[in-house]
Amino acid sequence: MSYQNEYDQSLSNPVSYWKKQAKAIDWFKFPETILSKDDDDLYRWYKGGQLNTCYLALDYHIENGRADQTALIYDSPVTNTKQKFTYQELLTETALFAGVLKNLGIEKGDRVIIYMPMIPQVVFAMLACARLGAVHSVVFGGFAAHELAIRIDDAKPKVILAASGGMEISRIVPYKPIIDEALEEAKHEPEACVVFQRDFVKAELKEGRDFDWNDLLLKAQPASYVSVNASDPLYILYTSGTTGQPKGIVRDNGGHAVAMHFSMKNIYGIKPGEVYWAASDVGWVVGHSYIVYAPLIYGCTSVLFEGKPIKTPDASTFWRVINEYKVKVFFTAPTAFRAIKKEDPNGDLKANYDTSCLKYLFLAGERTDIATLDWCKKMLNVPVIDHWWQTESGFPMIANMTGIELAPIKPGSAGRSVCGFDIQILDENNQVKSNNEEGAVAIKYPLPPGCLPTLYQDSERFKSSYLKQYPGYYFSGDGGYKDEDGYIYITGRIDDIINVAGHRLSTVEMEEVVASHPAIAECAVVGVADDLKGQIPVGFYILKSGVDKTVDQIEEELILKVRQTIGPVAAFKRAVRAERLPKTRSGKILRKIMRAIADQKKFTPPSTIEDMSVLGELEVLMKNQKIGMIGR
Ligand code: COA
Ligand code: AMP
Repeated sequence: MSYQNEYDQSLSNPVSYWKKQAKAIDWFKFPETILSKDDDDLYRWYKGGQLNTCYLALDYHIENGRADQTALIYDSPVTNTKQKFTYQELLTETALFAGVLKNLGIEKGDRVIIYMPMIPQVVFAMLACARLGAVHSVVFGGFAAHELAIRIDDAKPKVILAASGGMEISRIVPYKPIIDEALEEAKHEPEACVVFQRDFVKAELKEGRDFDWNDLLLKAQPASYVSVNASDPLYILYTSGTTGQPKGIVRDNGGHAVAMHFSMKNIYGIKPGEVYWAASDVGWVVGHSYIVYAPLIYGCTSVLFEGKPIKTPDASTFWRVINEYKVKVFFTAPTAFRAIKKEDPNGDLKANYDTSCLKYLFLAGERTDIATLDWCKKMLNVPVIDHWWQTESGFPMIANMTGIELAPIKPGSAGRSVCGFDIQILDENNQVKSNNEEGAVAIKYPLPPGCLPTLYQDSERFKSSYLKQYPGYYFSGDGGYKDEDGYIYITGRIDDIINVAGHRLSTVEMEEVVASHPAIAECAVVGVADDLKGQIPVGFYILKSGVDKTVDQIEEELILKVRQTIGPVAAFKRAVRAERLPKTRSGKILRKIMRAIADQKKFTPPSTIEDMSVLGELEVLMKNQKIGMIGR
């Protein structure tokens, strides 16, 4: 079967196509209806279906001969630890931890926030929630207390699961003080906080509220899986939106399980029993889908890597892991390879490792620049496949569907639409643009199974954020164009979201923090091009009159404020004083134009611009301050 055939089938009859795909997983009760609408007039997949995601990821494989196969490999260069878990062992750990949660009163539908680094316990915790039908919400460890507090107030968890800390190369990051601060700030009070104590950092436990992970394990009995509805949520994952309030992306159990299975087979082209490695973090969607759920649901071995591409201990780590565990398919962000290339441009360290086990390298999180693609190809001698997706979709929307047909790779393009995704490039009047013309990347609604059905307890925001701009379509927030062969080129976000080292961040959130500094009259945060991280945020501020601090002092305070409020992951390291900001006559700051100046891209100022001369001023400022491309 060719890609084109399969793709055409998926669009001409989505119901029969996704019914066929659904048969690949083991339902307790096969869905009665494949596609229907809910009370909010939103599409839902697999109504009436009953299943359990943890059962599919673990018990199913044990019942089908994989008990002794390695399910999870934990490799932690930052703590010098390596550990393997068979499917049977992973089930034993998970079922026992589900018993802990049960003893804490966790039931189907209860929310559990997980704030943990890349250790096996985070996998036990996620799967244990799924086992009980509880809804987990993992918060990335690089977020600060305030961000955690926002998520606690939105998800209203009964329990928080945490570790005492993480290790950032060699910097210990104690998690418990962050959790305590977040709980101080949040209005919602969880009933309990369970802490896994790591050897290198001990958390203080508050009597009555905080519990030691291992103590609770001693009192627990293994818990079995419960049956949940296909439409019941498996998890909520918060992601940056274009306001200060992150969006709670909901993932349902049924569509997700089908999509995970489907993508391993058809996109990643891997077989059950083979080793899959996604070098990401469980705090991001890549970690949810391709460290935990998809490899396990598909019966692969997944690698859980607690380290960085460089400095843990050096730029050979990725080659070592691929070689040591015979990784078949590897997935990471281009920025990781840019970091390796910077340290070891000729790949001298690669010479010590045989990586011939590898079949494909997949890259996502940002566009794969051609230099990085070429370098990876030279190093690994395998197809290097850029593919495009989002937290919202949960699995790739544009890719090379290698499991169906390895199509020619066009550098700069993320590939063609994945089966089930009718992706179009639209103009502002909702009309499809001609080939090679840039526009908004939109997808015919309904989206396939696995994609977000709605936002957590906010279907109105779901509609206004994604469905209103282009009637009949889901708007991705990205711009791009399609060529005559159907290959799509993503040109970047056309909203206020930026991607820093493959991490999705909101400039609006950063602006809110900068603007709250007492010396700041006005500000704009824009993402400018960066050789290593793809983009980095830069703040431009106007001082209030009468402030007697130096620009260095102000910059230092703003950087610290963003780090303490949003977290180190924001990578906010530049704040520059400006005299004026470019605005429209109605007072709207022209951030896109600021970004275009920094990146030395062509732009047309709107006719509504208040004063053209400010653009020249900004150009000079950016050049002098060495900001973006213009400052080089
Ligand atoms: N807990 C606490 N702090 C964290 C953290 C975590 N889980 N993750 C990152 N941070 C901190 C870092 O220590 C760093 O702090 P610093 O300002 O004190 O140096 C800051 O947040 C920025 O982190 P990062 O953007 O990761 O930059 P880096 O310089 O540490 O590393 C790369 C750069 C490119 C090596 C790294 O970003 C990387 O490996 N990126 C791949 C990203 C990825 O896999 N994305 C998922 C999509 S596939
Ligand atoms: P996240 O939700 O964190 O996965 O971020 C999703 C966003 O990352 C997308 O909307 C894009 O802007 C960007 N992105 C992800 N993958 C790619 C890619 N392959 N090419 C270009 N941009 C990408």
